[in-house]
Amino acid sequence: MNILIMGGPGAGKGTMSAKIVEKFNVNHISTGDIFRSEISNGTKLGLEAKSYIDEGKLVPDEITNSMVKHYLENLKDKKSGFLLDGYPRTLDQAKAFDALSAGTDLAISIVLVMDIPFEVLAQRVTGRRLCKECGAIYHIESNPSKQEGLCDKCGASLYQRKDDTIESLQVRLQEYQNQTQPVLDYYEKKGLVQTIDSNQPIEKVWADVEKALDQ
Ligand code: AP5
Ligand code: MG
Repeated sequence: MNILIMGGPGAGKGTMSAKIVEKFNVNHISTGDIFRSEISNGTKLGLEAKSYIDEGKLVPDEITNSMVKHYLENLKDKKSGFLLDGYPRTLDQAKAFDALSAGTDLAISIVLVMDIPFEVLAQRVTGRRLCKECGAIYHIESNPSKQEGLCDKCGASLYQRKDDTIESLQVRLQEYQNQTQPVLDYYEKKGLVQTIDSNQPIEKVWADVEKALDQ
């Protein structure tokens, strides 16, 4: 099964992705996570992407498309499929991915859209904390770690993403409305979209996601 998870900044894509990967044995491909890892490793790609990401703007399509293509071509273990988190998020990316997947086993089986009012997102992104080692996602109020500042899973310290500011969130929301909403309509027309109410406690959202994927 090849899954695509979409939704605005902080809608809960990463949180659900961790659970999906564990239950459905798929490769998690988060373009945001890949860019952040390239940035922290100081690579050429990381340097190219950094200024866009810090401001909340989308990284140009050519860079993102070729990164995903390279990543998919070099997957050592194909597992039971993949989960695309945060890609495609422009119409150009969706078309590039269609071209790449045509006639292969890469076609998307289902598109999960994490639906949430934009007003809720500010609280979500400003309260988010991430493990710098294993990437586990926490929230200071809705999903705190047991010991403040430390990861429950591996004990490493937690950090805040550089783009998790109100200023960057405004830009990310605008990018979502202008560039990503048309992608949602594109997959809607293909009959692939399952909308999930993401404005519920994490366990309830997960129950709905599991139900959609089990069908
Ligand atoms: P990316 O990393 O994809 O960021 P995003 O889309 O802004 O989404 P987030 O990761 O911020 O949120 P999320 O939906 O994963 O929420 P999470 O589960 O963490 O992209 C970052 C940047 O990279 C982009 O701005 C762009 O520059 C670049 N980029 C990436 N992909 C690109 C592409 N395809 N093309 C071009 N550029 C690209 O949850 C958020 C918080 O809420 C957490 O604290 C969590 O604990 C909490 N939470 C989650 N669910 C719930 C719940 N149900 N109830 C209460 N709290 C919850
Ligand atoms: Mg994420």
